[in-house]
Amino acid sequence: MTGANGTALSATGLHTFYGKSHILHGVSLEVAAGRITTLLGRNGAGKTTTLRSLIGLTPAREGRITIFGQETTRWPSFRVAALGVGYVPEGRRIFPNLSVEENLKVPLERSGPWSIARIYDLFPRLHERRHNRGRQLSGGEQQMLAIARALLVNPRLLMLDEPSQGLAPLVVREMFRIVEQMRSEGISVLLVEQNARMSLAIADHAYVLDDGAIVYSGPAKALAADEERVQALAGAGAGEWQADDSPLNGLSERYRNA
Ligand SMILES: Nc1ncnc2c1ncn2[C@@H]1O[C@H](COP(=O)(O)OP(=O)(O)OP(=O)(O)O)[C@@H](O)[C@H]1O
Ligand SMILES: [Mg+2]
Repeated sequence: MTGANGTALSATGLHTFYGKSHILHGVSLEVAAGRITTLLGRNGAGKTTTLRSLIGLTPAREGRITIFGQETTRWPSFRVAALGVGYVPEGRRIFPNLSVEENLKVPLERSGPWSIARIYDLFPRLHERRHNRGRQLSGGEQQMLAIARALLVNPRLLMLDEPSQGLAPLVVREMFRIVEQMRSEGISVLLVEQNARMSLAIADHAYVLDDGAIVYSGPAKALAADEERVQALAGAGAGEWQADDSPLNGLSERYRNA
């Protein structure tokens, strides 16, 4: 159930506005089925706006979107979701006053391999904390819960908006491991991140967005090998190039104090 050539999503020429502010200037991108596609870019580049346009939360004024072979341009977001598109927004929107287990029961379940029992296998920590309220969870646990809820909808395509934001390094690694596991389950992933190093290490294809336009499209590996380009295009911060256990280590000193 993919489009012609194994494409989960394809968008061409998106122009999106907030009132009179013209934010996206003709964004085109593709998410290959069963792959991880990452969308990088500085603060304010338009990454969240791109995701919101793709799922119909902030509809593009111009352009065309096709998801799993269906033209979804101007569809309301609930219809897009019903195609099997999951979305984990920025800032972990969980219900603070519901328990972990209650949070997991909120999504409208679509049939498929993901059940609450499987979620607890993947996230043992959520099982341990199942009777705790959302607000009692750490940032990392809240992010796991937000992702777990999206998985329960059994998405074929999952869009994640900065899942690693604000998490401790160990939890960040865990988060990226889970995203890789989604791909091995056959889920197509569109991963928005500011952590260029980690995203490029797991992604198949990369896009960089700057000022509402795509300024790079190519294999994630090729971009990962060109740190200067990442720095120039995505404004990768000092912190993210520091870890010495990364597959992209050996990066020059000058980014460490940038
Ligand atoms: N609701 C809104 N109304 C008006 N302008 C907005 C609104 N939301 C975002 N913008 C503007 O649109 C531009 C793109 O914002 P967007 O949130 O898409 O960027 P982003 O790449 O996701 O940034 P970040 O990395 O900080 O999350 C920014 O200039 C932002 O100020
Ligand atoms: Mg954003």
